[in-house]
Amino acid sequence: MAFFSKKREQKTAKEQNRYDMDEYLDEKVSLFNVKRVLGYLIRAKGPLRLSLIFSIFASISGLVGPLFIKTALDEAVPNKDFHQLLLMGAYLTASIVVSVALSAVRNILVAKAGAGIIHDIRQDLFAHLQKLSFSFFDSRPHGKIFVRVVPYVNSVSDALSNGIINFVIEVLNIFFIIFFMYKVDPHLATVIVIGLPLLALFIWTIKPAQRRAWQAVSNKGSNINAYIQESLDGVRVTQAFDRQDKNLEIMNGLADERNNVWMKAIYISNTVWCSTESISQLVWSFVYIMGVFWMNPMASFGMLLVMGNYAWRFWQPIINLANIYNTFITAMAYLDRIFDTIAEPVTIQDIPNAVEFPFVRGHVEFRNVSFSYDGVRKVLNNVSFNGHPGQSIAIVGPTGAGKTTIVNLLSRFYNIEEGQVLIDGQDIMKVTLHSLRSQMGIMLQDSFLFTGTIADNIRYGKLDATDEEIRAAASLIGANQFIEKLPDGYDTRITERGSGISAGERQLLAFTRTLISNPRILILDEATSSIDTGTEQLVQEGIQTLMKGRTSFIIAHRLSTIRNCTQIMFVSDGQIVESGTHEELMAVKGRYYELCLAQYEQ
Ligand SMILES: Nc1ncnc2c1ncn2[C@@H]1O[C@H](COP(=O)(O)OP(=O)(O)OP(=O)(O)O)[C@@H](O)[C@H]1O
Ligand SMILES: [Mg+2]
Repeated sequence: MAFFSKKREQKTAKEQNRYDMDEYLDEKVSLFNVKRVLGYLIRAKGPLRLSLIFSIFASISGLVGPLFIKTALDEAVPNKDFHQLLLMGAYLTASIVVSVALSAVRNILVAKAGAGIIHDIRQDLFAHLQKLSFSFFDSRPHGKIFVRVVPYVNSVSDALSNGIINFVIEVLNIFFIIFFMYKVDPHLATVIVIGLPLLALFIWTIKPAQRRAWQAVSNKGSNINAYIQESLDGVRVTQAFDRQDKNLEIMNGLADERNNVWMKAIYISNTVWCSTESISQLVWSFVYIMGVFWMNPMASFGMLLVMGNYAWRFWQPIINLANIYNTFITAMAYLDRIFDTIAEPVTIQDIPNAVEFPFVRGHVEFRNVSFSYDGVRKVLNNVSFNGHPGQSIAIVGPTGAGKTTIVNLLSRFYNIEEGQVLIDGQDIMKVTLHSLRSQMGIMLQDSFLFTGTIADNIRYGKLDATDEEIRAAASLIGANQFIEKLPDGYDTRITERGSGISAGERQLLAFTRTLISNPRILILDEATSSIDTGTEQLVQEGIQTLMKGRTSFIIAHRLSTIRNCTQIMFVSDGQIVESGTHEELMAVKGRYYELCLAQYEQ
């Protein structure tokens, strides 16, 4: 019985942790990441260096203040030297004003450095994400990637700019204070410094647990993000299936998990804070006890006051260091994830000495291509075919046959490991990605639109397209008919899901976007979604317009599209089993013939 209940428990835990894909916990701060951090700091070295200089002077001018108090109390007051008292008061005021002014400038410089660092990290991360292959995005929820670019980068910037500068400053402060203290009184200075190794030992012991705890917080936090993003994307499906309650339950589960690890992290950090604070208070009182004990003849009243002040100032940077350490530990947990992403290898990239593809004529050849997504199951098996310039080639076959995979390889969204794909006789693995893709028009099964106006979306295909070109392309495709009916015409705003326009209209926009880019090779993975007959007619005509004058590969489901193509390839289980024109294949009475019959029967 116990065995069964344990099994069930494990299953629920598994269900809840399906986002826990980066759950590994590093014991140590990796040297590699430290090097990367230094790289970013060096880029912001201008303002950082300046702010360091300002900080040093701010710190020194703040620290000389107590010395004036000591002179006032030990010399001016007993000697009733009013002039000296005033002078010391003026010096003290000046030192405070200078220190505050220098600190103010420093704060601005640090903020500037922080903004620079945040900009650099986010830019690198975003640039890298855009280069990563489909397989990277296939393998994780997008929400988990998103948190790395926005909230994580925000959190680390403060730790990196303020944190690092403050760290250096506080360490310097400690040295300055020790120097001033020993100058005033070595005995009391030793009393003050004695608590330090004790605290260091304590922090050193608790450090690994603290790091692990904050890393867990970052993981669980990103799980929530991933779930929220996914839920927003899928909100229509959720409502259609009436799954709101169940989703809330999952969300609560994820939030509870995050809260549990967060509380644990807070407990640990709080223990560090309490210990530092207590040790500092104890030392402070000890200074007064020892000071009074030594008062005559070794210590004066002024000296005791100054040493009390220094003791307080000495522990302040240490408490600050403990806080900075806390922030830093959290930031390092985030940085791990950020740098993980930046270090993710770009598997689809130009080989060394890749050549620029000249103007493509459009001869496409697959030569004995075999392919597997996971390295285990072959999805394409020894596929060979030829597509001549200007031809339109329909790829048909049952679902999961490998149709999309063929065009994925032709677009080089995945690397070709067995066999070759040649365009105009040139192996596409040996040309630059930019020169290859800029001559291809690729329309995937889901025609994604971006937030912006309709004109912006069309212009995505050609950044410098004029309004006239956009109108011309739209009317060639036939998209102008619906666009002009919209209240704002080409300036109508749409969102990334393309809401506000129908599925068919979305396709027409995607066609226009591709037409304007004037590709040499056209790839169309036709959406299976049904569209109304009026739009259907437009879509058909749109496809015909697009295909004119270019080699086209069309994964089509509608017979009307397929039969007009110059060549039809029937794909089944990763192999081309039939190939020819519509008439030829109908005469063979094979798989294609059966498919056509099935469609007519419907
Ligand atoms: N990213 C991926 N990772 C692993 N396997 C994949 C991936 N994409 C597709 N597959 C598998 O490869 C096989 C071929 O998929 P493909 O997308 O090429 O089929 P298709 O012919 O385009 O099907 P459909 O008509 O449904 O679009 C399928 O068995 C599928 O499960
Ligand atoms: Mg497909």
